Amino acid sequence: MAVRREFRLTQVVSSIQLTVNGEPRRVHVDPDVPLLYVLRNELGLFGARYGCGTGSCGSCTVIVGGRAVRSCQLPAGMVSGPITTVESLGGNHPLQKALIDAQAGQCGYCLTGIVMSAKALLDADPRPTEAQMRDALDGNICRCGSQPRVLRALRAVVAAK
Ligand code: FES
Ligand code: FES
Repeated sequence: MAVRREFRLTQVVSSIQLTVNGEPRRVHVDPDVPLLYVLRNELGLFGARYGCGTGSCGSCTVIVGGRAVRSCQLPAGMVSGPITTVESLGGNHPLQKALIDAQAGQCGYCLTGIVMSAKALLDADPRPTEAQMRDALDGNICRCGSQPRVLRALRAVVAAK
């Protein structure tokens, strides 16, 4: 049986207006391109990281419209709210300090996604329950096994509020 392969050489490029960390940003990309690639490749924001590319690890997490989202799974053309990335926190955010204090970073690859999931949780509810904290971080995988230290850090931030 003959197999016919077709290659499409055309690429759809759209002008997309985004709000990233409070700043208007316009990009010219294929609207199906994941937001993660736009952040990294078009806007030079490297905090969100590529881990699995399938929505399973959380290393690409950013906040869109107040919700923690997996940016590897969100097409740029479907973004419907302001985007907040870890770069907006600077480095002195209480969550970042608490993670350092708890020595939660081993290789550190997961941490930017974890920070953004935790921030989305605390933005919605500054005093979450233990179950809510665990649920919010459930989709963020740490291959170094730092989850207990991450939870300790989050508990410390909540207790200080
Ligand atoms: S890279 Fe997006 S969830 Fe893993
Ligand atoms: S600290 Fe290495 S993956 Fe989490």
